Amino acid sequence: MIDFKQLAQEYKTPLYIYDLDYMSAQYTELKDAFKARKSILCYAVKANSNLSVVRHFAKMGSGADCVSIGEVRRAFLAGIPAYKIIFSGVGKSDDEIREAIEKDILYINLESEAELGRVELIAKELKAKARISIRVNPNIDPQTHPYISTGLHDNKFGVDLNSAKRMYIKANNSDNLDPVGIHFHIGSQLTELKPIYESAEIVADLVRSLQNIKIELKFFDVGGGLGVKYDNESLIPTYDYAQAILATLKGLDLTVICEPGRFLTANAGYFVSKVLYEKQNGEKKFVVIDGAMNDLLRPSLYKAYHKIEAITDSESEERAVDIVGPVCESGDFFAKDYLLPELKHNDLVVVHSAGAYGFGMGSNYNTRGRSAEVAVEDGKARLIRKRETFDDLIALEKEFLD
Ligand code: LLP
Repeated sequence: MIDFKQLAQEYKTPLYIYDLDYMSAQYTELKDAFKARKSILCYAVKANSNLSVVRHFAKMGSGADCVSIGEVRRAFLAGIPAYKIIFSGVGKSDDEIREAIEKDILYINLESEAELGRVELIAKELKAKARISIRVNPNIDPQTHPYISTGLHDNKFGVDLNSAKRMYIKANNSDNLDPVGIHFHIGSQLTELKPIYESAEIVADLVRSLQNIKIELKFFDVGGGLGVKYDNESLIPTYDYAQAILATLKGLDLTVICEPGRFLTANAGYFVSKVLYEKQNGEKKFVVIDGAMNDLLRPSLYKAYHKIEAITDSESEERAVDIVGPVCESGDFFAKDYLLPELKHNDLVVVHSAGAYGFGMGSNYNTRGRSAEVAVEDGKARLIRKRETFDDLIALEKEFLD
């Protein structure tokens, strides 16, 4: 059990707390589900890119799925070996491509024909052969929030099947490209198995048709996307998930790569704030806390639900309140009409399921320093990121003041 009160006292608020043992348990569960095949879990660094979190997964044998060269550098720094690092994303700059080739990572995931051209050119300049994979957009509706749905042709991600095939042929004929993998990722927070199964089938069929023309791939990358419980969602059992994917690969000798982010970290994380005051505008009651949308954007951006727990000795009846932060935006809220007892100054409000896409989507809006981050492992807590100070925020501007 995490002692929120004690940690809030020691590290101040707002504060992110991550339970590393929970992350380990999630990692092991998913890895075990794939044990019938060779597999690599490549942790999606974007979900929670704190170096100590990435290091934690590195120690468990994880690889990394990265979407910028910054994330690739983080993965290296955290101790993930080059041969387990993947670089994805629709828009990679020449410098990023160059560095990824020089660092000899497992493969670069291509998302367009134009990108294939750039990677080929840069690999040629470097006299290298770049390992690549192609992100296929299977045009399947993943049945999730439109902002985190990526597997439809309406979305900017990946290429259609025909383009993919053309690109594989081109890559295979190139002296500077080595097509080793195939990739799809249809969306995030997925709670339905069928779209994943259907996508895997489509992509596995493409692998077979490539085999027929003597293009042999080694990696079948199923992306991330496994949903987690924020509220009372019914989830895809990990075993069923793995089995459904493996069932599509009959007769194919491929290593499965999976890129979980949220599944590994979301429910390991808590965002802890202090109550500043309560206020009432007409009928509406607000609890104002010291954390804000710049710390945890998901409720504002997606109207995402996060369970909220109040730590208080208040024994009052629960009433419906909006839990809001100090930022100057009406969208700065964590929950609306949420039932909480009457709270007083310095009571704690803990936002659950904050370990994925929490800190990483934070900003310094309103010149607010980002929170500290603390990891708890084996019952012991340690600081893994300092709270940002005012001096940190102005460090890159100060010298230009005339
Ligand atoms: N692989 C690729 C290519 C991805 O684009 C993503 C997430 C993942 C793996 C990891 O997906 P996960 O296992 O975490 O579902 N900010 C949003 C989520 C954006 C997800 C972007 N891509 C949120 O807060 O819900």
